[in-house]
Parts: sequence; C-alpha cells; structure tokens
Amino acid sequence: MSAKKIGVIGSGLIGRSFAMLFASAGYKVVIFDIEPAQTRAAKEDIREQLASLEKNGLLKGSLSRQQQFDNISTTENLEECVKNAFFIQECVPERLDIKRKVWAQVDKLVGDDVILSSSTSALLPSAISEGLTHKNRFIISHPTNPPFYCPAIEVVPAGWTDPDVIEKTFTVLKESGLVPVLIKKEVPGFVLNRIQYAIIGECYRLIKDGVVSPEDCDTIMSQGLGLRYAFMGPWETGYLNAEGMLSYGERYADMILDIQKSFGPPERIEGPTLQAIHASMERLAGPVQDIQKRRQWRDKRLIALAKLKRDLDAEDQAGK
Ligand SMILES: NC(=O)c1ccc[n+]([C@@H]2O[C@H](COP(=O)([O-])OP(=O)(O)OC[C@H]3O[C@@H](n4cnc5c(N)ncnc54)[C@H](O)[C@@H]3O)[C@@H](O)[C@H]2O)c1
Repeated sequence: MSAKKIGVIGSGLIGRSFAMLFASAGYKVVIFDIEPAQTRAAKEDIREQLASLEKNGLLKGSLSRQQQFDNISTTENLEECVKNAFFIQECVPERLDIKRKVWAQVDKLVGDDVILSSSTSALLPSAISEGLTHKNRFIISHPTNPPFYCPAIEVVPAGWTDPDVIEKTFTVLKESGLVPVLIKKEVPGFVLNRIQYAIIGECYRLIKDGVVSPEDCDTIMSQGLGLRYAFMGPWETGYLNAEGMLSYGERYADMILDIQKSFGPPERIEGPTLQAIHASMERLAGPVQDIQKRRQWRDKRLIALAKLKRDLDAEDQAGK
C-alpha cells in the first residue's frame, strides 16, 4: 500500500469520484477548488458516498471506510495541493481556456517527474498541454460517469508524452479499481464518445424518419443490445453470434455494408424531433422537476449491476 500523494484540482462530480478512488488505493489525496465552499461540500458528500458504498458492499480496496475518508484532505491553496504530489488529476470545467490556465499555474509549481493528468471528456491532450514546460508529463485520464460503477477509463497521451507517464498512469488507475484503456491516437471524442455519438446519431435519424418512437428506440437498447453490452463489446458479440469473427464476416459483412451505406450524413439534434424525444422521455422517466428520483432509480440499477459483475468475475477467477 502506497502513502504517496495525489493532488486533485476541482472538487465537482468527477474530482470527488477520483479522490475516493485514489484514497481507496491508499494514496493521500489533497483536493483543491477555486470555490472553498465546493471543497467543504465535497468532503461531506464523500463521507456520505463512502457510507453508501460500504452499505452496498462496494467499497474498493482493502481499507476501511474511515481509513479511506482519512486519506482525503482539502486545501484552499493550489500550491499545497500539488506540492510533493507524484500525480495530479485535474477536474475543472470542460473549457480549454480554464484548463490551460490551471495547467500553466501547476506547471510552475511542479518538478520534472510529476504526472499531469486531465479528466477532459473531449479536449485533445496536445491542445491543453502545448504551452507547458512539462508537456512531456501530460496525459488524459477520461473516466466514465459514474466512475465507481463504470470503471472503464480512457488514457490518451499526446504525441510528446513520455512512455513512462503512460505506464505509471495505468498503474495508479488500476490500483484505484479502474480499468484503463489506451487510446493510441488523439481523435476528437476519443473512443467512448465517438461510439456513443454514432449511436445517438442513428437513433435520432430513425426517430426523425418515423421508423421508431423514442420510447421504443430506448427499449431496443435497454431490453436488447444493452443487456449484452453490459458484459461484452460488439466484437465479442459478433464472435459468439457466428462461429468466430471470420465466420461472422463471411455471413454478415455484405449486409452490414449495405445497411451502413443507407446511413445519412450527421444531423444536429434539434427542433421538433428533439422536442418529441423530450416529451417521450418525460413520459418514460418522469418530469424534469422529479429527475433526482429517476437518477436514484438509475443508480440503484447500476449498483446492482456492478455487484453482479463483481460476483460473476469472482466466480470466473475461482474457476480458473
Ligand atoms: N460529469 C461527467 O459525466 C464527466 C465524465 C467524464 C469526464 N468529465 C470531465 O471532468 C471534468 C470536470 O467535470 P465535472 O462534471 O466534475 O464538473 P463540475 O462542474 O461538477 O466541477 C468542476 C469543479 O471545478 C472547480 N473549478 C472551476 N475553476 C477552477 C479552477 N480554476 N481551479 C480549481 N477548481 C476550479 C469548480 O468550482 C467545480 O467545483 C470536465 O473536464 C468534464 O468534461 C465529466
């Protein structure tokens, strides 16, 4: 168990999650936020979240809830947050100007061996880090929300990132109960959002063209594709749906290509189609003013799924 220090900058939704994950691996986490009230709220929220994780048997790592909580402290001073940290996770709002400003400040406060990791969902690592003295130490670690129940995390180096930064980032993330995936080239949206937006694009077109209702479109995912995707990706799905991948190609490649050719160009989601989707989701998920209730409904299911996956993985391990 390591007692090394990690600095977390920004204590919103993602900063809090990272703090808890790193603390579960035994790291000493120091959180900084430009809004002191946010850091105070973060500490209280983390206390409640850890209690809920413990209640559901989903605490990560081997430390007790209290030990994990005690590993997290807050500061109102950026220098105190990053000083002597070997790893810094930035979780400030998704704006290039803010991220560049924060990293320019950090750049002046750190040594040459530190790892500078950003949570950005869509900004490219080269765009954020190009002006930094320590740009060779910069990397993106983009989590899936909520990171406690969805452990996949995209790791995106810039062309100038040192290889040891990639390796060490993988180690820290794995120790923290996450499942890192290397994105080998910088592309907008990385991989998760490119896949997600391809799905949204086609679902939007099918609704706009009157092929399916928004509710039924969601049913196809929640009662169909999504069930398999909770356990495997499209390639393993294909492999199992035929006698392996080559047989899948032989059987389905022409059909897939023909159907893909019928997809139209990208469209902006807006106007009457978007209004119709909103109205359908109000029927399906309840009115926006009650959205918190539906989020709890979602989280309950995500917790149950996380438990099921953990138990099945343990069974697999035991059977090996
Ligand atoms: N929310 C998600 O689903 C999600 C998923 C993956 C990645 N991300 C990424 O994580 C990052 C953070 O997102 P979030 O949802 O936690 O945002 P958030 O708005 O909940 O939190 C941002 C925090 O940063 C603080 N902040 C603003 N300027 C700052 C500064 N100069 N220095 C220090 N702190 C500052 C704010 O006070 C706030 O507490 C974004 O880049 C976002 O794209 C978000």
